[in-house]
Amino acid sequence: MNINQFIQKVEAVETKYKSEVEADHYRQKYHLMPRVGFMNDPNGLIEIAGEYHVFYQYNPFYPEEKHVCWGHFRSKDLITWEELPVALSPLEGYDSHGCYSGSAVDKDGKLVLMYTGNVKDSKGERETYQCLAESSDGVNFKKLDTNPVIKNQPKGYTRHFRDPKVLKHNDKWYMVIGAQKEEEKGSTVLYCSEDLEKWNIVNEILGSNLSKFDFLGYMWECPNLFTLDNKDVLLFCPQGVDKKGDLYNNIYQCGYVLGKLNYETGEFNCGDFLELDRGFEFYAPQIMEDHNGRILLLGWMGLPDKESSPTINNRWLHCLTSIRELKIKDNKIVQQPIIEMQKLRRERTEHKEVLIKDNEIELKGISGDSFELKCTFEFDKVEQFGIKMRYNSDINEETVMFYDTVEEKLVFDRSKDGFHKEEDGQRRCYVKNNGKLKAHIFMDKSSVEIFINDGEETFTSRIYPSEESTDVVFFSKGGEIKLNAVHWVI
Ligand code: FRU
Repeated sequence: MNINQFIQKVEAVETKYKSEVEADHYRQKYHLMPRVGFMNDPNGLIEIAGEYHVFYQYNPFYPEEKHVCWGHFRSKDLITWEELPVALSPLEGYDSHGCYSGSAVDKDGKLVLMYTGNVKDSKGERETYQCLAESSDGVNFKKLDTNPVIKNQPKGYTRHFRDPKVLKHNDKWYMVIGAQKEEEKGSTVLYCSEDLEKWNIVNEILGSNLSKFDFLGYMWECPNLFTLDNKDVLLFCPQGVDKKGDLYNNIYQCGYVLGKLNYETGEFNCGDFLELDRGFEFYAPQIMEDHNGRILLLGWMGLPDKESSPTINNRWLHCLTSIRELKIKDNKIVQQPIIEMQKLRRERTEHKEVLIKDNEIELKGISGDSFELKCTFEFDKVEQFGIKMRYNSDINEETVMFYDTVEEKLVFDRSKDGFHKEEDGQRRCYVKNNGKLKAHIFMDKSSVEIFINDGEETFTSRIYPSEESTDVVFFSKGGEIKLNAVHWVI
């Protein structure tokens, strides 16, 4: 099959199921989703020639067939996105079982993609190749004749060796790659190149073979290496981490370390591993730097090996998160919704200094299944307070966030969202009680993203309420709170 035939096959399946997919009331209003079929990691994030590109792992043939290609969105403002034809298709010997995750760079005005070619040989054994493709128009991509530029893994590693993220540092190209050591430890390796084609290993920069990180499992996927406020950040997704109280409760994790990397030697002096998000669905995020030097992050609102969702019945699965701007505060990454999100705002409602004492109240104008809500809670003596969203008392549905002032825990509870169960119902995280709490919430048709205290903590999750469940209720228990709330319909 050639590229044109592949694109036609994709378009045929997209056309065939278009009306079925689009009739689904769980389709999102402002998050990126696949036209049909399966989406996972965001790939190749870049701003080039005044436009932003987001590629993503795309299997339009899900669930019958698996041909992982790169879907492609383009935007001038990070809000309105245009869908472009598939950029990479798994048609070569070196990527026959999937054009797996990777990244993008601007090389002298050309958009260059570096990705992992996944291959299963005749015995079902994995082979892994790092490959390049380039484009002059930002739409049509040509794989390089010199592919693959890295063949399989270096000594000491298994063939779980993938997801190259390329960056420029001191006029040289560098790349970090997710890896597994032969002793089944997760790891990240740093490479260097003058021309993107010939790559030399600098060193392994971090791994769960180090005693400090020995709890970080058997494989690290999707690493990102970047500088934020003069700190070097390694962000990655370790697999095989044991749950520890409220930490590491998802099947696979996503987090980062901050420190100082020596790019010549690969020596990385860094602090502890910190989880990036506290919700149920957040994985494989990628960053890009824009022309203002902002570091923008976009993640997958899903997890590998977790496919339980009612949207499967309508032939699509998963979506991406909103785009966030990263900053560092008190030696931690904070995430804030990008300012561009304000373009989505429609009718505005504000309620000031509302006192709620051992009560549940609705506020006029605040409800819906697609909104932005900014709340500030001030309190002194109160046990718990919070918000029930997508609430419907007739059928006992609600998605709740609340703060427990005694335990100093922020709790997100989707056990009655309309789909999930008790055992899949709560995520909690420590938030210091200082008498004030800010919650900035982005609700879409089947997801909610909560930014606590200007992005010190975030909770990102899918929810599947009934269409009619649109009430919002504010409550307090065991005392009084003062609430300021601003709500925008989206
Ligand atoms: C992460 C991941 C990557 C891989 C891709 C395949 O979700 O497993 O490591 O490249 O997905 O789709």
